[in-house]
Amino acid sequence: MCGIVGYIGDKQAYPILINGLKRLEYRGYDSAGVALLNGKVDVYKCKGKVADLEDFIGKKPIDSKIGIAHTRWATHGEPNNVNAHPHYSQNNDLAIIHNGIIENYASIKKELINRGYVFESDTDSEVLIYLIEDIQKNEQVNLFEAVRIALNQVIGAYAIVIVSKHEPNLLVAARKGSPLVIGVGKGEYFLASDASPIIEYTKHVVYLEDEDVALIKKDEPLVVKTVKNKDKTPYVQELELNINQLEKGGFEHFMLKEIYEQPKSIRDSFRGRLNLEQNLISMGGMIEYEHKLKNAKRIIIIACGTSWHAGLVGEYLFEDLARIPVEVEYASEFRYRNPVLSEDDIVIAISQSGETADTLAAIELAKSKGATIFGVCNVVGSSIARATHAGAFTHAGPEIGVASTKAFTAQVTVLTLMALHLAQSRGTISTTRFHEIITELNIIPEKVEKTLKTSSQVKEIAERFKDVANFLYLGRGYNFPVALEGALKLKEISYIHAEGYPAAEMKHGPIALIDEDMPVVFIATNRGTYEKVVSNIMEVKARKGKIIAIVTEGDTEVKELADYVIEIPETEEMLVPLLATIPLQKLSYHIAVKRGCNVDQPRNLAKSVTVE
Ligand code: AGP
Ligand code: GLU
Repeated sequence: MCGIVGYIGDKQAYPILINGLKRLEYRGYDSAGVALLNGKVDVYKCKGKVADLEDFIGKKPIDSKIGIAHTRWATHGEPNNVNAHPHYSQNNDLAIIHNGIIENYASIKKELINRGYVFESDTDSEVLIYLIEDIQKNEQVNLFEAVRIALNQVIGAYAIVIVSKHEPNLLVAARKGSPLVIGVGKGEYFLASDASPIIEYTKHVVYLEDEDVALIKKDEPLVVKTVKNKDKTPYVQELELNINQLEKGGFEHFMLKEIYEQPKSIRDSFRGRLNLEQNLISMGGMIEYEHKLKNAKRIIIIACGTSWHAGLVGEYLFEDLARIPVEVEYASEFRYRNPVLSEDDIVIAISQSGETADTLAAIELAKSKGATIFGVCNVVGSSIARATHAGAFTHAGPEIGVASTKAFTAQVTVLTLMALHLAQSRGTISTTRFHEIITELNIIPEKVEKTLKTSSQVKEIAERFKDVANFLYLGRGYNFPVALEGALKLKEISYIHAEGYPAAEMKHGPIALIDEDMPVVFIATNRGTYEKVVSNIMEVKARKGKIIAIVTEGDTEVKELADYVIEIPETEEMLVPLLATIPLQKLSYHIAVKRGCNVDQPRNLAKSVTVE
């Protein structure tokens, strides 16, 4: 969940580490720290953001060509100066940065305390570095060996990097369950949780695999072994990422930039896959397992958060178009409930980051039961992308804002392509209908562009409702997941309590909440269950709730009833989520900005949830 950076080479390490932390700050931001080697290990760390760390370091000595750095998202121990990483070994000779959770830390800690060790912090990470120190002392082995032996004793997830006072030309790194990338430069190495801190120095990277331990020395080839001491040949890949994709590009926040990128990110997600002339969809990453998908008895979609909402849209799409039964599961529930799975089942795992621990574990479980796993991922080279049998990348580009926006619409786009493709191969859609839908999908980016222009009106609505305590979001059919996503976005970044509900289900409970102070957002576009939604609007209106409605251009009926109306262009019912989501993202954004919230880094959240 945190961000990790490391450097070893001929350059000054500190600026590389700090800039790297800034790129990774989206992953966790409750405290930050660096360790620099300079005859001894100097650790500087504090509660707060990377900018606070820079202030704290001020004019302290930072001259060093080897170092490690961390931005934390606390799991064990509150965010404070002591619990911040890096953590020293007891003798101060070693320092560690760690992303993940050492699940058996308590028993190891107890054992070490019995042997006289005194701990400074409440973290599980400090326990690991003490264990390494203890092994080095007792077994007289070098650091690499000590790390390897220690990792055989821990249960849990880790990405770690360690520096040692006695080995000024060495970093030892390892991973299991949490991501770690090594950038390979000329005689120098960069380490990071993802490629973003590395891209400005080198395009050559090695993605460590689970249970890899790396020995990293300046001017020497990278050595990788498994924790079981098997030699491995590191596989060097070339990155496709571009540095401009990681900057704010004139927008006040990454989230706003990413909202405005959606015409492009949606187009990028179907580019090269949609072929209007030949009336087909081609998806290279699925070919090998296509026969499995075609003959599937059932599709199970697993994901978390926003990706789970995209999965719900997927459910409607696959059932509607390809006539295959679909279940959508929270990965965290699926993995712990002994699900019934067979070799005929297809699992589709959806994840922006490709690192979500629950989704990854659910994939492994499904795999162990013989299911075929397709991935819908945004990050190439991510753990989930590598764990799946086949799949299709969303090409949304790096998403930095913690609240997911463009990744959602890219996921829905890719699921639409998958469902249409499957429908065609199963013969559940006519050629004409297939053509109609793909023709419409092809012009959706222009309609998203148009939808983005409703900005001034959304700002007015945001001003009116920025101080309320609750919001309700209601929709039906394809618009039900849109309502859930709208509510999640508002909660995440403005801290206003919001609930998404199927509009008809409101009368079975939430209707009790409605009074003249309750804003209710209806996604009331003109297809599907429009008339039914109109009745639901009447029910709210009768109880004096304030109605904000997303309607199709030219609508008159809902306009009469609603207090505020936002128009979106007309489109196919199944493509409405790609448009209706946009004003809801903007509404949350403007409310959060008006409330003075940190939009890109909301409290308590982190971009990739690599812990359970
Ligand atoms: C989205 O705004 C959230 N921050 C969160 O719900 C996210 O969608 C979830 O953690 C899943 O992440 P993933 O897509 O990277 O797997
Ligand atoms: N478990 C560690 C801690 O609480 C690391 C958390 C993280 O990944 O940031 O300090």
